[in-house]
Amino acid sequence: MQKFVISGGNRLSGEINLQGSKNSSLPIIAGTLLADGECVLKNCPVLSDVYSASRILNCLGCKCQLSSGNAVIDSIGVSGFEIPDELMREMRSSIMFMGAILGRMGECIVSIPGGCELGSRPIDMHLASFRKMGVDISDSGGKIHCRIPSGKAHGAKISLSFPSVGTTENIILCAVTAKGDTIINNAAREPEICDLCRFLRKCGADIKGDGESRIVIRGVKKLHGCEYTIMPDRIAGATYIAMTAATGGELILKNACISETEPFISVLEQTGCGIYIADNRIYVRKGARLHAIKDRIRTMPHPGFPTDAQAVLMSALITADGTSVFEENIFDCRYRHTDALIKMGADIQVMGKVAVVRGVNKIYGADIEATDLRGGAAMAVAALSAEGTTNLSNIYHIDRGYEKFEEVVSSLGGKIRRE
Ligand code: UD1
Repeated sequence: MQKFVISGGNRLSGEINLQGSKNSSLPIIAGTLLADGECVLKNCPVLSDVYSASRILNCLGCKCQLSSGNAVIDSIGVSGFEIPDELMREMRSSIMFMGAILGRMGECIVSIPGGCELGSRPIDMHLASFRKMGVDISDSGGKIHCRIPSGKAHGAKISLSFPSVGTTENIILCAVTAKGDTIINNAAREPEICDLCRFLRKCGADIKGDGESRIVIRGVKKLHGCEYTIMPDRIAGATYIAMTAATGGELILKNACISETEPFISVLEQTGCGIYIADNRIYVRKGARLHAIKDRIRTMPHPGFPTDAQAVLMSALITADGTSVFEENIFDCRYRHTDALIKMGADIQVMGKVAVVRGVNKIYGADIEATDLRGGAAMAVAALSAEGTTNLSNIYHIDRGYEKFEEVVSSLGGKIRRE
């Protein structure tokens, strides 16, 4: 099992080009199943989750080549509709393939995704939405079998009880080649959904309203291949910004997604960290000790503060001057990183969905284990600002979402090595 050995205390400084977005590349890769032709995805991040997605495509009959940031996917020969158990277990977001497989094959078999890192992550909204679109669903022996008796889903009016990102994406993927119009009310508005829709429109889909809470999809007969560039990863951007803020350095994020990162930046600015935006770049500079954030930091669906950036911001605030309070409203088990931060000397008290972070003067290196993707990244942020050496194990979590993590951090002057 690999680990990162991180020696803290160096100010991070420099420029980086942001990687492509993990959370949009996964549904876009699923979407290539619908295209009758070759898709070329540029700026596709090189991540273990992307490799898992390509293994799913291969086992369904696609040809998929990943090389130096490009994915070339040919779905002409798709014939399978079942995702094997071991691939379902490799990546929980394999559930995202359901809508696309249904759209292409009219049938799909998946297993219920296994143990979950962020608490219970049910798929009831996904299944209820598919049922509304004419899909018969049965569940036995841990397998979910979905079948559309007529072979093609029909449009439906679907009102989500919560703006779930994955459900919104799954409905869109199933609806683009369905018969008739699908309307999603209370749709999620995350930028990655807009990225998915931009890709699908380039393949010939008819979708309106993405980025708003009402999305209308008019089913078309078929989609064609295209070349598409995946948006930069706003959460990786937030992570490197938090790292700079925590270590007191200076960072220029090139090809940043500025408006998409705004909900994170507007909160971080309250710490006194200097953030300047120009020419599609974000410039971050930390001078004195960060101030705690006075208002409660509430994670909310976009355009609220992103749950995926909660842990990395917390790591920057553990040595801030004063007390900051987090409220996690999206997932019920998203403070699993706090035990490691406490082991490093942080003063954090978790009570249900609230975490109270009292700033301390210093934190120290420790032997810790990544608990999940963003929690693991948060531990690396803390380790880089700590005194001494941290051994961070279970880094396969970090590899799921950060491309060449140690290379990027080293290029900014951070002392990190993989062992
Ligand atoms: C996606 C992102 C993840 C991000 C999250 C919220 C990807 C690959 N992952 O996850 O990084 O943290 O959005 O921004 O894009 N829920 C149900 N029933 C369902 C579906 C969801 O109760 O059928 C609940 C979940 O348990 C959770 C909440 O809805 O409490 C939000 O989940 P959702 O928006 O669906 O997140 P994901 O798509 O899993």
